[in-house]
Amino acid sequence: MSVSKTNNKTTVIEIPYVPRPLQLELHKMLDQYRFNVFAIHRRFGKSFCIINHLLRAALMANTKDKNKPNYRPKWRGAYISPSYKQSKNIAWDYLKTFTAKIPNTRWHETELRCDLPNGSRITLLGAENPSSLRGIYLDFCAIDEVAQCPASLFPEVIRPALSDRKGSCVFIGTPYGTMNYFYDLWEQAATTSGWNRHMYRADETNVLDQEELDAAKASMTEEQYNQEFLCSWSSSVSGSIYGKEIGKLEDEGKITEVPHDPHQLVNTYWDIGVHDYTSIIMAQIGRGGEIRVIDHIEDRGHALPHYRRLLEETEYNFGAHYGPHDLTVTEFGNGITRLDAAAEQGIRFRIVPRIPIEDGIHACKMMLPRCVFDRVKCKQLLANLKHYHRAYDEKARVFKNRPVHDFSSHSSDACRYMATAITEMRNDKTPPQIFADNQYNPFEAHP
Ligand SMILES: Nc1ncnc2c1ncn2[C@@H]1O[C@H](COP(=O)(O)OP(=O)(O)OP(=O)(O)O)[C@@H](O)[C@H]1O
Ligand SMILES: [Mg+2]
Repeated sequence: MSVSKTNNKTTVIEIPYVPRPLQLELHKMLDQYRFNVFAIHRRFGKSFCIINHLLRAALMANTKDKNKPNYRPKWRGAYISPSYKQSKNIAWDYLKTFTAKIPNTRWHETELRCDLPNGSRITLLGAENPSSLRGIYLDFCAIDEVAQCPASLFPEVIRPALSDRKGSCVFIGTPYGTMNYFYDLWEQAATTSGWNRHMYRADETNVLDQEELDAAKASMTEEQYNQEFLCSWSSSVSGSIYGKEIGKLEDEGKITEVPHDPHQLVNTYWDIGVHDYTSIIMAQIGRGGEIRVIDHIEDRGHALPHYRRLLEETEYNFGAHYGPHDLTVTEFGNGITRLDAAAEQGIRFRIVPRIPIEDGIHACKMMLPRCVFDRVKCKQLLANLKHYHRAYDEKARVFKNRPVHDFSSHSSDACRYMATAITEMRNDKTPPQIFADNQYNPFEAHP
């Protein structure tokens, strides 16, 4: 790829990238369709290719001439991966290498931003905090390792950011099971106009030779190999904590339509993030011990009144609200506990006992077989539960004890609190499931 600069003379600058034949095919599809979903095997050269496409789009954008079609002053492009750190590790060096010889280019290390001489700008971002990306507009967005990004990233943040300038978006990654947003996009792309999808498996591309593939196969489980190199969607997340239990529920038809029973109270189980996600699971507990998980809410960056309103908007008759032990923490500002503050808002929490995380996970594994989940309303909850996992310690060749803290942690914590509440609080004088605190309207404090 080359770019020319006009002063009195023209200088041709060679960008050190020669696309491989299949990367060239991807560039063509990217030019042809506004939305592309690419499921591609590991080490294909996905990130390399996508950064170059972003750069070419930035350099070729018509940022100057109003009279020509596709006028895009201050062209803006973004590369997003699951975390800021990952974006820095994966893409920043690539971007700096490819732009090194372009005169008058400025790199802003702390913001991972590259300003090009034509006024175009490329920013590398992390998806761990989607709301921090609000308020931007984009002409082109590349989302790498999509399966590890939160489901809210595209619909709530990126899609609106593309609207001003009818920008394009490419989703690229290696499959990671069906319970995540990447798979949803893959399915959606097959039937939505303006969308394109494409898969490249390692046994078709010849990017990695057979010897290397055989060596990889020898050191991986069949499931891992099929996922990483053959782009199989059917593998579960490696190190998944609840993957087996959720898979069993699927096989037994327990992820289905679970309508609200108006004759029963609905209990809620909360993981509360003051500056982070709040996740609320809503369940009805049958006399036979069946746990009917009918609904789930997850959102971030809001105070309690927002969640109270969301609950009020449902048609449910609430029983008890269960919250984590940190509700008893005293806020510095006003000297009252979060528990008291919540009660003032009309939500009287019962505190779930604090037990070691491993015990909570065990309780959750014991509880899940008793659950039925509403397939639609609990979709995100189920995806998160399936994703929740322990990282693999390559050196010690074992899974680490502590689960990875990512977008799936909040719902998984709420589910753990639910299991703890149900198993540890059985001896309550008022059993939570049926007779819980229904003498008051939990919202009466604020009509
Ligand atoms: N067109 C190309 N020319 C030269 N080298 C390339 C090209 N495309 C990719 N590579 C090299 O291939 C390697 C893998 O590239 P890249 O990191 O983009 O792969 P990936 O598919 O994103 O991998 P992963 O699945 O691990 O994220 C890198 O070392 C990169 O330098
Ligand atoms: Mg990559």
